[in-house]
Amino acid sequence: MNQSREFDIIIWGASGFTGRLVAEYLFKQYGTSRNLKWAMAGRNQEKLETVRAAIADSSVPIVVADSSDEASIKQMVLRTKVICTTVGPYAIYGSKLVAACVEHKAHYCDLAGEVQWMRQMVDKHQEAAQANGVKIVHSCGFDSIPSDMGVYFIQREAKAQKGQRAKKISMRVVAMRGGLSGGTYASLSKVMEQAQQDKSIYKVLTNPYGLNPADQQEGEDRPDLMSVVFDKTSQSYVGPFIMAGINTKVVRRSNALSNYSYGKDFRYDEATLSGKGFKGKMKGVLAAIPLMFMTAKPKSVLKSIANKLLPKPGEGPDREQRENGFYNLRFYVTLEDGSSAMGKVTGDKDPGYGSTSKMLGETAVCLAVDELPKINGVLTPSVAMGDALLQRLEQSSGLAFSFK
Ligand SMILES: NC(=O)c1ccc[n+]([C@@H]2O[C@H](COP(=O)([O-])OP(=O)(O)OC[C@H]3O[C@@H](n4cnc5c(N)ncnc54)[C@H](OP(=O)(O)O)[C@@H]3O)[C@@H](O)[C@H]2O)c1
Repeated sequence: MNQSREFDIIIWGASGFTGRLVAEYLFKQYGTSRNLKWAMAGRNQEKLETVRAAIADSSVPIVVADSSDEASIKQMVLRTKVICTTVGPYAIYGSKLVAACVEHKAHYCDLAGEVQWMRQMVDKHQEAAQANGVKIVHSCGFDSIPSDMGVYFIQREAKAQKGQRAKKISMRVVAMRGGLSGGTYASLSKVMEQAQQDKSIYKVLTNPYGLNPADQQEGEDRPDLMSVVFDKTSQSYVGPFIMAGINTKVVRRSNALSNYSYGKDFRYDEATLSGKGFKGKMKGVLAAIPLMFMTAKPKSVLKSIANKLLPKPGEGPDREQRENGFYNLRFYVTLEDGSSAMGKVTGDKDPGYGSTSKMLGETAVCLAVDELPKINGVLTPSVAMGDALLQRLEQSSGLAFSFK
């Protein structure tokens, strides 16, 4: 990595809903006078200046780059060690930036949950990123850090405390409170639209191993839960978890990239706990209704209603909603000898924005300044950063990890 660059980190998309929160977090946590050199970037100088005045001060440099202007992207990348981007939908705005980071040797992190696009980035850039010593790390927000780092942590602790690995982990969302932004909804819509137009994309989305290396997509895991069922593991009704389609694939990619350190027979799944008895079952059914709106078929009546009701790009949960948000994830663990254990990951603030902005901010700092595993390519958070990221998440991002 080029140590002589002007900046450690550039946050591209800093005028958007989530990028602004990341910039605000970095300013509060690191300021501009300490050892971290960072800048806010976007396509509109005036808008960036307005946001900067609201969240920081004029000591934060501004960089202008537009996804439609390749030269501006190259210039931006050449100025920094790490690009941290919240310019989404990534399938529309993100591809040239990833290519520029690989070519011009800057590490990269984002909030992509667009599996079809991440698959393209793996296929296009894995070899060149390895050859150039670059880490491209997708999904560094609520999807998929709590799942990916949660499993990484549990496997590490199982080995340390019990001398064996976990052969099966079922993550259950116990509780969470938060909202949705227009950018996230736009990204979800883009996934649905592309999947409807192109059957090969649909196949990637429904393949449990859709992000694994092309020749390693076999295993025992099944597609993610799509209905409300009774779950023996938790002795409760469970329903779909909207982020499972991303998280489970990221966890499986981590296993593959780490030479199957969780085992070739490792199994992983995610669902939302809804409770016991008839009440639990009904709660699960009701919880699935907002999901139906968010993932409605393009051009359907449901979709046009969702477009009216759900937030527009630039909008999202207000400060009070973010501050009052939280999440609690439980990991039911089966060890190699058949015994059971329990892991837990909790986060303060709402998952999608308050917590996500701290996770992404710390990911960018970790890529810029920490001693990291000697692996490059299109990676997952746990494989790219391992213990260094875990420590930052616990110390600064409001996440807590436990294993019993
Ligand atoms: N994984 C997670 O947990 C998670 C959580 C939150 C968000 N996300 C993802 O993060 C992304 C951003 O979400 P958001 O709600 O922050 O969206 P947003 O408010 O719409 O922000 C998008 C940003 O992209 C910028 N942009 C748009 N077109 C551009 C172009 N041609 N060149 C350069 N910049 C351009 C916008 O600039 P202007 O300000 O100039 O319009 C804005 O700064 C989405 O893909 C969302 O799915 C993921």
